[in-house]
Amino acid sequence: MSIIDWDESYSVKINLIDGQHKKLFDLTNQYHKAFTEGRSQNAIRQLIDGLLNYAAVHFATEERYFSEYGYPETESHKHEHKIFNAKIAELTRKRKTGEAIEHDEVIKFMRIWLEGHIKGTDHKYIDFFAKNGLR
Ligand SMILES: [Fe+2]
Repeated sequence: MSIIDWDESYSVKINLIDGQHKKLFDLTNQYHKAFTEGRSQNAIRQLIDGLLNYAAVHFATEERYFSEYGYPETESHKHEHKIFNAKIAELTRKRKTGEAIEHDEVIKFMRIWLEGHIKGTDHKYIDFFAKNGLR
């Protein structure tokens, strides 16, 4: 049972980024599934770790493309990543200190990112990278 599904409306027309976005949807769904099925705290923590680690990989990939191609909106886009990274750092800290992480908090965060950020901020670079031949 998934709670958030990737479809073409999320595509940014770049294979590597679409692949990473799909994986983030997948990891979010896996985490949600583990939670709703009442899997062990340990299994759930591992999924949170996987999600947070992959988020860092993904932001680094996007930002590498920005600097490689001289994307003009790099700064504002990176600023949004920074806000997400602050939340990721907070969740990682909670995760490490054993503080409770609210399931709803994680899902809300992923929704803002996957629905809001991809369709808003990420979609702004589609034309730029397409014109530069990245696919
Ligand atoms: Fe982004």
